[in-house]
Amino acid sequence: MNDNRKIGIFDSGIGGVTVLKEIVKVLQSEDYIYYSDSKNNPYGDKSDNEIMNICDNIVKFFIKNDCKAIVIACNTASTKVADRLREKYLNIQFVAIEPAYKMVYDYAYEKSTLIMATKGTIESEKFNILYNKFNNYKTYLLECVRLADIIESGEKKKIKEYLNDNIGKYKKKVQNVVLGCTHYPLIQNEIKDTLGNVTFFNGSYRLAIHLKEILEKNKMIGKNEGKIEFIDSQRLKRKEERFYKILENR
Ligand code: DGL
Repeated sequence: MNDNRKIGIFDSGIGGVTVLKEIVKVLQSEDYIYYSDSKNNPYGDKSDNEIMNICDNIVKFFIKNDCKAIVIACNTASTKVADRLREKYLNIQFVAIEPAYKMVYDYAYEKSTLIMATKGTIESEKFNILYNKFNNYKTYLLECVRLADIIESGEKKKIKEYLNDNIGKYKKKVQNVVLGCTHYPLIQNEIKDTLGNVTFFNGSYRLAIHLKEILEKNKMIGKNEGKIEFIDSQRLKRKEERFYKILENR
């Protein structure tokens, strides 16, 4: 028996496509709805309650659209409200991304590390628990205020300037970079141009494997065509075009 309902995945914009790219590699026979919440971008500076209200509406939308599982492809939403959503919606499987700091602990503990994330993620209790548990005492935390916003706009010059102004000072100081926001893998090359040859840590592949295991364990694997439906909360055509372009380059 297969469970042919869809998988819902969302972010404050198109950043979560970096997570979806990993998921479709390991779960090819599932159908997906990707919800890009550009209307509420950025999430990074919003309060927990604001984010909860926003995410609650998205979850309701997915449930109405017959989703069996929901992927929170936004570190800010995950660290702030994933537990509250799980408590509220007991019958739906949630999988939530979080900054891959444990991977640093497992594979590169000795090396100095820069964690880049939104202000919301870095301030969150959940992130702080993770940070204290796996601290290698050679780690810099950087709140990248409005960086997700700039990436969302796609303006290359602004991205370069932002990186030079905000992360340039870590050149030669760090060897690891944790991409603690799902938008940041989209500018991995630009970060390398600024910092030199660093190793990136990103939790998307692990999340994809985890989602697959959950579906298998609960006998929820589907046998579908692998359709990916894109919805932007402002119905912005340019978001849709960019989303599919990034997906095609996988
Ligand atoms: N992609 C979101 C994250 O992973 C972006 C946050 C934002 O909208 O500020 O945190």
